Amino acid sequence: MSIVVTAASGHFGRAAVESLLARGADPASVVATSRRPESLADLAERGVDVRRADYSDPDSLRTALAGAERVLLVSGDEFGQRVAQHTAVIEAAVAAGASLVAYTSAPHADTTSLALAAEHAATEKVLLAATADEGVDHVLLRNGWYVENYTGQVDTFLEHGVVGATGEGRVSVALRREYAEAAAAVLLGDGHAGATYELGGEAVTLAEIAAAVAEATGREVAHHDVTVSELEQVLLGAGLPEPAAQTFADVDRGIAAGELQVPTDDLTRLLGRAPLGLRDAVREALGA
Ligand SMILES: NC(=O)c1ccc[n+]([C@@H]2O[C@H](COP(=O)([O-])OP(=O)(O)OC[C@H]3O[C@@H](n4cnc5c(N)ncnc54)[C@H](OP(=O)(O)O)[C@@H]3O)[C@@H](O)[C@H]2O)c1
Repeated sequence: MSIVVTAASGHFGRAAVESLLARGADPASVVATSRRPESLADLAERGVDVRRADYSDPDSLRTALAGAERVLLVSGDEFGQRVAQHTAVIEAAVAAGASLVAYTSAPHADTTSLALAAEHAATEKVLLAATADEGVDHVLLRNGWYVENYTGQVDTFLEHGVVGATGEGRVSVALRREYAEAAAAVLLGDGHAGATYELGGEAVTLAEIAAAVAEATGREVAHHDVTVSELEQVLLGAGLPEPAAQTFADVDRGIAAGELQVPTDDLTRLLGRAPLGLRDAVREALGA
């Protein structure tokens, strides 16, 4: 069986390939694609089939996905272009005769009011239409928030504290490698066709995240709860362009409203164990 993982040069795609191999996939059956195949040279040395694919270049996608049976479409990061890009990947998968496409989406993508999820919702629709019209099976991997979204800001947190507009709202977090392992389980397993998985670990407040970072670093980490428009100003002041500041402030609005909270059942079932709790996940992400 040939399994294609797109965006394998990114953190998630790379972790998905590693999980496939760790779960016993034959390296020769795994195709890892990237715009920068040279960044995957170590995987090629281990026998993985490395191919160039650019979501904005349909010819490259047709070549990269030739022979694909199952495809993990990892969402791209070029906002505003992603629906067309993801559609091109789905079309290439259909043209290759793939039997299944799994897509990394966002929590409650079809109902959420989060601006960030709009391109995910639109991609899901394209994929569902491909199932109806072309017969390719789909799996929606609605990944919750990465713990790394927070731990990646540890220097800022230590200097300025954690600034957010989430109030008492909770966000379901797990390590990126845990979501990637769940994706690998789906790609290698049976019985997932047509499934929508709402994936997330422990549901935590921003104050709890600040406390976990403080514990892992042994430093004080303040938590400042502000309004959504105050947060937007803070992000603008930190140099983010206006659309990004608006989008990230909108995420906190969504967290406050419970829109990024999901039960842990789906992730636990796919992993075959519970995801790490917040404190352990933060410690791992910080290498503490
Ligand atoms: N759930 C969450 O909390 C969360 C957080 C952040 C992001 N995300 C989403 O999850 C995705 C994977 O996360 P990540 O941590 O792996 O992100 P990442 O490390 O930043 O990697 C992004 C990947 O997208 C690839 N990509 C972007 N545009 C592409 C294009 N036109 N053609 C082919 N590949 C393209 C990049 O390839 P190159 O190496 O060629 O640039 C890279 O491999 C992100 O792209 C984003 O959609 C989710």
